[in-house]
Amino acid sequence: MKRGLFITIEGGEGAGKSTHAARLAQSLERRGMPTVVTREPGGTAEAERIRALLLDPGEAGWEPATEVLLHFAGRAENVAKTVKPALAAGRVAICDRFTDSTLAYQGYGSGVPLATIRAVGEAALAGFRPDLTLILDVDPALGLQRAGKRSTARDRYESEPLDFHRRVRNGFLEIAAGEPGRCAVIDSARNEDRVAEEILAAALSRLQEPVG
Ligand code: TMP
Repeated sequence: MKRGLFITIEGGEGAGKSTHAARLAQSLERRGMPTVVTREPGGTAEAERIRALLLDPGEAGWEPATEVLLHFAGRAENVAKTVKPALAAGRVAICDRFTDSTLAYQGYGSGVPLATIRAVGEAALAGFRPDLTLILDVDPALGLQRAGKRSTARDRYESEPLDFHRRVRNGFLEIAAGEPGRCAVIDSARNEDRVAEEILAAALSRLQEPVG
């Protein structure tokens, strides 16, 4: 089996990313594959401080371009300190959100040109990208309802109007259509166990591909 695979899990609010990142890690560990789970924004002590700035509803004044820079600042930290060391040690690294979230939220959602986001991404990460991206797709109305049940206080992005979340969903689907080799779209409105099985199957098929 291949080692050192970088998997990202993406999707809108309430799509079940955190649950499925944890379930996938458990399933891979059970099969003897050492796994690290991280999340963005965040994933290191420094990047968690940037997360707090970004998600605090009281800090709603960021320019969308500033948000892009903050997300990539945190991402550069998380890649250098969590993801790359995990991969170098032969682990599977699973990241709950990554660059596609910046394209979907700040690009499709808030209107920052996608080319600008890609250029900032190149500067911050020097071409580093996931081997496999699982996009958990759910209707934003259902996703926001699920997210609302999970927490009483809505963060910055959860408070955006439904239209914003529709653009985000459409963004993820366009990204997936443009890169079918890297991305798999998974219907996350279904029963949690079914979704977990499909995610595991996608990860295992990638891990079983011949190296090189
Ligand atoms: P979470 O709810 O998955 O923990 O993510 C926090 C919020 O941050 C979520 O509403 C999506 C948003 N976000 C962006 O807007 N751009 C990004 O690049 C990332 C990673 C997250």
